[in-house]
Parts: sequence; C-alpha cells; structure tokens
Amino acid sequence: MNDNEVKRSTISLQGAHHIADVPRRIFGSFIEHLGRSVYGGIYEPEHESANEHGFRGDVLDLVKELGVTCVRYPGGNFVSNYRWQDGVGPKNQRPVRRDLAWHTTEPNQVGLDDFYHWSKAAGTEIMMAVNMGTQGLQSALDEIEYANGAPGTALADWRVANGIREPMDIRMWCIGNEMDGPWQVGHMSAEEYAVAVERTAHAMKLAEPGLELVACGSSSASMPTFGTWERTVLTRAYDYLDFVSCHAYYFERGAKSPQDFLASGENMKHFIATVAAQADDAKAAHQGDHDIALSFDEWGVWYQDDWNRQEEEWKAQNRVLHNEPWPTAPHLLEDTYTVRDAVVEGALMIELLAHCDRVRSASRAQLVNVIAPIMTQNDGPAWKQTVFYPFAFAAHHAVGDAFAPTIHSSQVHTESYGDVDAVRAVVTFDQQTHSGCVLMVNRDMQHTTELQLDLQDLLSNTQFTEIIADEQVLLHDDDPYATNTIEHPDRVKLRTLDITASAEHPAQFTVTLPEESWAGFAFHLV
Ligand code: AHR
Repeated sequence: MNDNEVKRSTISLQGAHHIADVPRRIFGSFIEHLGRSVYGGIYEPEHESANEHGFRGDVLDLVKELGVTCVRYPGGNFVSNYRWQDGVGPKNQRPVRRDLAWHTTEPNQVGLDDFYHWSKAAGTEIMMAVNMGTQGLQSALDEIEYANGAPGTALADWRVANGIREPMDIRMWCIGNEMDGPWQVGHMSAEEYAVAVERTAHAMKLAEPGLELVACGSSSASMPTFGTWERTVLTRAYDYLDFVSCHAYYFERGAKSPQDFLASGENMKHFIATVAAQADDAKAAHQGDHDIALSFDEWGVWYQDDWNRQEEEWKAQNRVLHNEPWPTAPHLLEDTYTVRDAVVEGALMIELLAHCDRVRSASRAQLVNVIAPIMTQNDGPAWKQTVFYPFAFAAHHAVGDAFAPTIHSSQVHTESYGDVDAVRAVVTFDQQTHSGCVLMVNRDMQHTTELQLDLQDLLSNTQFTEIIADEQVLLHDDDPYATNTIEHPDRVKLRTLDITASAEHPAQFTVTLPEESWAGFAFHLV
C-alpha cells in the first residue's frame, strides 16, 4: 500500500568494507525424502522428460536455471530414522519401509547412488547427512567408505558392484539433523549430542581427514536451548568440526506484523551473531587454530502454522498423520509463495551474503515441491514459484568478493526489531571478469525509495572508465499476495528495474525501488 511519499536513500562503495569471497556453497539447497520432493519431484521414471535414471529432465533444467550449487540430502527429520543401506543395489530388491518423521512409506527407489547420478546431471555438490537418531558412528563410517572409498575394500566394492566405479568424493557431511528437537527421532540433550558428535566426528576424520563436518546447531532461534546448545556442542567437539548448522524459517503469520515479516533479515542477523559468538568462544577455549563456520542449511519461508494445523486435524480425525495410513509421496508442505515471500527471501539472501565471512555454506529449504521454488504436477509440467527469482539472480551474478556498502537509509518501524533501515544491500565484484552485481531490497511497505547508487570506487585507480549494465531486474507487484500456480505459472516474473546513469558521473545511478520490492543490478566494467 503506497502512500505516494517518496523516501530517499543512498548506497555507496565509498567507505565500504570487504566481507569475504563469496562461497559458491552459499547458493545451496535441500532435498529431503518428504512428500513429493523426491518421488514426483526430482524422480518420476514415467514422466516424458525422464532421463535414463528416472529423473525428470524438466526439473533438472529448472535446477540449473536456479543456479543451485550444492544440495543437502536425504534429510531433514527423515534422516534420523533412515537406513542408507536400503537405498542402494538393485531397485527391485530394496525394502519398503515406514518413515516415522513424516508418517509415510519410503519405497527406497531413490538412494545414495541414484542421488549421486542426479547430482552429476544437475552439476551440484552433495552435502550428505548421516543418521544420528537410530544409527550412529558405525553407519556413518560405512557410508563414507561406501561413497568415497577406493575400490579394494568391502564397502567400496559394494558400490562398484552397484555400478559406480569412481569414488563419489563427497566432502561435506552433516552429523545428524536437528538433534535438539523433541520431534526428532532419537533426539538428545546438548550434553548427549556433544559426546556423540565428538566421537563420530573424530572417527569420520580418521577415515578421511579432509572431510568437512557439520554439527547440528539449534533447530531455530526460538528453541529454549538456543545458544547454550551451540556452546556445549562446539566446546566439546571443537577439534573435529568445520561447521555448525543454523536453521531458520519465516512466515507472515508468524511475525508480529507484515512489516516485521519483511524485516525477517534482522532476526537472521541476530541468529548469525549469536552462533558466531559461540563458535569463537569454543575456539578461544581450545586456543584453537581454526574457525567453525556457519552452515545455514535450512532457510526460507515456510507456512509452519498451516502444517501444524493440518497435522493436528489429521491426528484428531484419523489418529494417524494423514487421511490414509502411511501414504507414499503425499502432497506435504506444498506452500504457494507470494511476491512478499519472495521479497523476504531476497532480503534473507542479502543477509547471508553480507555475513559470508561467517556463513560459508547455506541451503535454501527445500528445492522441489516441498516448501520449494520449483513445483511439479505428477505426469504434468514444472513451474517456478515467486521465490525462484531472487535466488537465481544472486546465484548467477554474485561471484567473486562481497562488499558491505555504506548505506544511508530511511527507517521503518517494526514491533520486533524497533526502527530498522528500509534498504538493505550487498555488492559483489569479480576481479577475474571485472563484473559485479548489487542486490537491493526496499523493506518499506508504504513508500517508494529513490536511491542514489554510487559505484565510483570500482573505477578509481583502474584502467576502466564505464559501468555497463548487463541485467537490471525488479521483483514487485501491486498485489503483494500474487502467486504463480499451475494455471498461471508466469503471473509473477521479474520486471525491468528503473535505473538511470548520471550524465556527469558514469558510476552513479538513480534507482527507483517501489514499496516492498527486491532488485538486482548486474554490470561489467569497460
Ligand atoms: O524442511 C522441513 C523440516 O524442517 C526438516 O525436515 C527439518 O530439519 C526441519 O524442522
């Protein structure tokens, strides 16, 4: 709702600070055996676009267009009662199992080997999660040997017999999932998990010192143990850990007001600062030689109230979690995203990049059908949700180094965070290609912002004299609740950003950001 008053803000590289190189893993995502994420999502052998492994080609094309770099698999809550051994070998011999996390039937037609094939086709790195709920150390070691071992030992040879000769070379391993959550199969106290993760991580590093290990952090900042969980776990297992996970989901009805929802990045900032402080304390306590980085491996918008209500209804009516007991690949968590949700996700991506000195990996949760940017119909088309767009732009253009520009912004009032900057932005620049981008968001629900953007510092002391625009995109709609659906898959698309170069100063621009909008400007120097 625009009240016609135009606010003014500036973004300048003068006085900007270099944050860090942009880790490619920050553009990761997540596929869990949940609902139709795998079956009917990435995998549908009968689909007209399916490849030789049964994976949908139309979905693979969209995953590439999204620019995803790394995919966490196979859960999520699912992993805590999953036997990875069920998912390898001849498909007709794989057992069908019950999954206690989502009360569904797991047909095991997709598992580790299949996901390896999918990742090759998608061009993505695998971030593997091991089961710390019903399995543990031995199973984790077996999985590492199966996946990464050179032929010549029993488990590596099992992989070869199953058709994959080369080691998979999976580098990143999550040691369990949300083990602080009472809903998690086999959940633990901080002390119990700290002991378990220390032992498991120690053994995993004996198996392969080069692995990058991720310990479970808190499953949200609202957990009563948030902060103390990290302190206990990281202090105990510091020597063997490379990452600690962070999980945060946001949704409009979960915020105190729509304006608060638009400012969800403030919560993410607080989350990052708290966990980074615990990681630094653990390092100091050990007089350590390495930082524990943050892996923000579940983030995004998720209408959790819808899911909780649905779960309660099913339980009350049927005493099971669904209309039928133990369904296979039911429609679960298939949230439809609005323009406002996409603006929030664009803003969250800006926060991740603005903190990429600490956040060295992230996974937008999830990728297909389940709280996802990509949707499919079984035996039908695939389409992009609104949240697809800011992620894809950042993944393709935010390359090289990230800079925090100097921002003078008008303010918006929120109930949760007080007065905050309406405008947030991050700048990236790649020295190799002399190209860069500015990601910007106007979180003000009521006012257009006219923005002065000063990139002069990119030209100073170089042989370059001009900044040439490559792409200038805007995500905004007069209806913030507009969505893309199977009937109207292109209702919401990127528009052209209104950006004008100054006649006297070729590196200065005037940008118009409508109320609650996200924008991207990609350029190169000549
Ligand atoms: O992404 C959906 C669920 O959210 C995951 O299974 C779990 O890790 C988190 O609570």
